[in-house]
Amino acid sequence: MPKETIAIASDHAGFELKAQLKQELAAMGFEPLDLGTESPSSVDYPDFANRLAAALKDGQAKRGVLICGTGIGISMAANRHRHIRAALVHDVTSARLTRQHNNANVLCLGARLIGADVAKDCLKVFLTTDFEGGRHENRVAKMS
Ligand code: RB5
Repeated sequence: MPKETIAIASDHAGFELKAQLKQELAAMGFEPLDLGTESPSSVDYPDFANRLAAALKDGQAKRGVLICGTGIGISMAANRHRHIRAALVHDVTSARLTRQHNNANVLCLGARLIGADVAKDCLKVFLTTDFEGGRHENRVAKMS
């Protein structure tokens, strides 16, 4: 079976965590699609949210991960795209619930706020939890 591609992008503040999460994705059997940034030099987080939104729109990946310093700016930028449901997550419970209830397709993390181990746990739970559907279906549909 072909590996599922997971798009991943960050600004400079998330550059290091992005490298760690790419390794984690590969270890989990996914194919990471790195959309930048390419170095720790200062960049603007909306550019990377936009890159990832474009990759999901044209079918390069169905799900993605975005990282900036707090996760706030990059999640705001991502959610300006109608097909994106980006969830800023700091803990495993939120990672699980945003999949079960919101059918989030993008996980956002704040590299300056959470440690690498928590980020990896959030990533694992986010990618392995299914949307519950049912009563949540209509609510999610109303967002787009
Ligand atoms: C960059 O310094 C920082 O502002 C950015 O990574 C992010 O935290 C914005 O929300």
